[in-house]
Amino acid sequence: MSRTILVTGATSGFGKAIAYLFAQNGYNIIITGRRQERLDAIKADLQQQFKTQVITLCFDIRNRQQVETAIADLKQQASRIDILVNNAGLAAGMSSIEEGSVDDWEAMIDTNIKGLLYITRQVAPLMKAQGSGHIINIGSTAGKTAYKNGNVYCATKFAVDALTQSMRIDLLPYSIKVTAINPGMAETEFSLVRFKGDEARAKGIYEGLQPLSAEDIANVVYYCATLPPHVCINDLTLTCLNQANAIYSMKDADKPILTK
Ligand SMILES: NC(=O)c1ccc[n+]([C@@H]2O[C@H](COP(=O)([O-])OP(=O)(O)OC[C@H]3O[C@@H](n4cnc5c(N)ncnc54)[C@H](OP(=O)(O)O)[C@@H]3O)[C@@H](O)[C@H]2O)c1
Repeated sequence: MSRTILVTGATSGFGKAIAYLFAQNGYNIIITGRRQERLDAIKADLQQQFKTQVITLCFDIRNRQQVETAIADLKQQASRIDILVNNAGLAAGMSSIEEGSVDDWEAMIDTNIKGLLYITRQVAPLMKAQGSGHIINIGSTAGKTAYKNGNVYCATKFAVDALTQSMRIDLLPYSIKVTAINPGMAETEFSLVRFKGDEARAKGIYEGLQPLSAEDIANVVYYCATLPPHVCINDLTLTCLNQANAIYSMKDADKPILTK
């Protein structure tokens, strides 16, 4: 029987790459995001390329009612969810704490923490009933080391780390694996979103180094998800060769600079 993976935030970046890699490997795919047209295009392409079953769920993960309705509808269409990748998330802005935008803070807290909780609250009981499952939370190096002007984004990813640790304990009796994958800099739409469409500023983050790609993250997710049933990666941090942690990266040779 084909296994089924639900990936939140699959309209771009990591989520999209994860959906493609698992589809290529015969999984049934459930993808979510707010941009219906992108979900439709990805669904059509995955079905055409890999002849796999694809379900799209269009909702804003910050809206609890929308999440609950989407998963209730999903239960009519999919009999099980083997893997949940809690990936939807964003950084909004980068300011010192006394100058930060409270709207940006709320968007990050509502998406990265509350959104992750809303969906997990709906999916974890299904996995419990199945007697198996794997929840993979996409954290960040920003959830391991705080950096200047990263304040609230870092706090949301520290929260993902804490939730991952705690969820693993809670779900231990039900044979549900819980894994955190913490990437460093990766070139996706992340910086474009963070800097509100400022392409030059977004591009500047990756200049002079080779960042991770979305496909790199997808490969690591796939590795963690396909280990033998008795093996669970608890926590995995990856950076590109040019980055040591959330603070230090090496742009031009021998010239260490602050990442952010
Ligand atoms: N790129 C990096 O350097 C990096 C490093 C470490 C961790 N991360 C984390 O990795 C995850 C994926 O980021 P990415 O780099 O792939 O960024 P991305 O290309 O901007 O993708 C973000 C995805 O999240 C979805 N999303 C955002 N807000 C949402 C909302 N309110 N409701 C539903 N979906 C929402 C977006 O879909 P819609 O816009 O269609 O809703 C999109 O599919 C995030 O949690 C991010 O914090 C990224």
